[in-house]
Amino acid sequence: MNVCDVIEAKKRREELSEAQTEFFVRAVAEGSASDAQIAAFCMAVCMGGMTDEECARLTFAMQRSGKVAPRPAIAGVCADKHSTGGVSDSTTLVLVPVLASLGVCCAKYSGRGLGHTGGTLDKLESFPGLRVDLTPAQFEAQVRRIGAAVAGQTGEVVPADKRMYAVRDVTATIDSIPLIASSVMSKKLASFADVILLDVKCGEGAFMRTPEEAEKLARLMVRIGRRAGRRVLAAVTAMDSPLGDAVGCNAEVRDAVEVLRGKENGLSALSLFLASVLLRQAKGISAAEAEEAVRACIASGAAFGKFKEIVAAQGGDARAADDFSLLPLAPRVREVRSGAAGYLTVSALALGRACAALGGGRKRPEDGIDHAVGIVLHRRAGEFVHKGELLAQIYYREKSEEAFALAEGAFGTRAQPREGRLVYSLIEEA
Ligand code: URA
Repeated sequence: MNVCDVIEAKKRREELSEAQTEFFVRAVAEGSASDAQIAAFCMAVCMGGMTDEECARLTFAMQRSGKVAPRPAIAGVCADKHSTGGVSDSTTLVLVPVLASLGVCCAKYSGRGLGHTGGTLDKLESFPGLRVDLTPAQFEAQVRRIGAAVAGQTGEVVPADKRMYAVRDVTATIDSIPLIASSVMSKKLASFADVILLDVKCGEGAFMRTPEEAEKLARLMVRIGRRAGRRVLAAVTAMDSPLGDAVGCNAEVRDAVEVLRGKENGLSALSLFLASVLLRQAKGISAAEAEEAVRACIASGAAFGKFKEIVAAQGGDARAADDFSLLPLAPRVREVRSGAAGYLTVSALALGRACAALGGGRKRPEDGIDHAVGIVLHRRAGEFVHKGELLAQIYYREKSEEAFALAEGAFGTRAQPREGRLVYSLIEEA
C-alpha cells in the first residue's frame, strides 16, 4: 500500500478500511505523506464525504497517532468543553472557574486562534506571565491542587491533526463534517475528561452555516464519543452576532472578567447554560438545581476567586483581573455610530475580520498576535438604536481602512426585531 492508493480510493468515494486509514494517518504523523498528498486526501473527503464507521476509524487512528494520557487518579468527575469556534467566544474563561468552584474538575486543553481573533490560549496569555505550555505532569498536578487547568496540547498529542489542520486551513478544506468531527474528537478523546460537552456553533460566523448542518456535525461527534465509551454531549448554538461585548484578546478578557463579576450578556447566558449542563451531568442533579448553583457561585464571588487562582497557578499576574490597566487596549480609538434608527444587527464574521485586519488575528500558525487591538461594543444585536448613537469603539495602533470598513459594515439596522436564539438544541443521545 502507498499513500497514493489511499487517496485514489477516497477519490473513487470508496469506504476506507481500518488498514488504509491507519496507514494514511501514520504517514501523516511520521511525515512520509507530503502536504500535497494530505491536501488531496482532504479535498477528496470534502467532495465525497465519509460513512460514520469510516469517520470513527479516522478519529481513532488520529487519536492513536500520538500519546494518549491515561486518566490520572483524580477524585470526582473531570469535565471538558470544546467550541468549534466563534467570534467573541470566551465561554471557557467563565465556565472553567465556575465549575471548578463547584467541585467539578476542569482539565481543559484549548487552542490558539487561526483567522479572525485569538483563541483561548491567546486570551489567557493576555495576563502578564501566564504560561499555557504546561507539561502533562504540571497540568495534572494543577488539576489535583486547584481543580482546573487550561493549557495547549503538546505536539505529542494527536500530531496527525496538527499537520492535517495546518494543510486544511490553506486549502479550503476546513468545512467538511467528517474532517471537523475527526479533528475535534481525536483531540477530545486524547484528554482524560469523563464528560465532554461540545459547543457546535452555527451561523454566519461559524464553519456550519445552518442549525441543520451543525446538528449533523454534533450528532456525528456524539456518536463517535459514545463509540469510544465516553460521555459526550453537544449543544448547537448561534454564531451570527458576537457572543459577548468585545472582540480582540484583552477586550474579551475584560468582558469575561466582568461576566464573572456578575455582568449579563450573551457570553454570560451561554456560559451559564453550558456550565449548568456539565454540572448536571457531573453531580446528577436537576437542570434547575444546576442553574441555581451556577448563578450562586457567580453572585458570591467564588467563581471570580477561582479564576484568579487559576491565573496565578499558571504564573499569570492575577491583579490584572482587578486592574484593567494591566490588560491595556490599543492607544488610538475610532467610534462607530449608527447610520439609521432601528433594531441593530451585528455581523460576527465582519467584526472578526476587522479584528484580524487590526493585527488581532493570525494568518499562519507562527504569526504573533496583538492582544490590545479590538472592538468594544456599546450596543448589542437586537437592541433598538437611534441614528448617530455610539455602537462601538475600535481600538487600534495603525490606521487600517480595511479594518475600519469591515467594522463599520458589520452594523446595520432592521425595521422589525428578529427573534434571536442562543441555543438551538442539546444533544444527549445521538
Ligand atoms: N476545530 C478543530 O479542532 N478542528 C476543526 O477541524 C475545526 C474546528
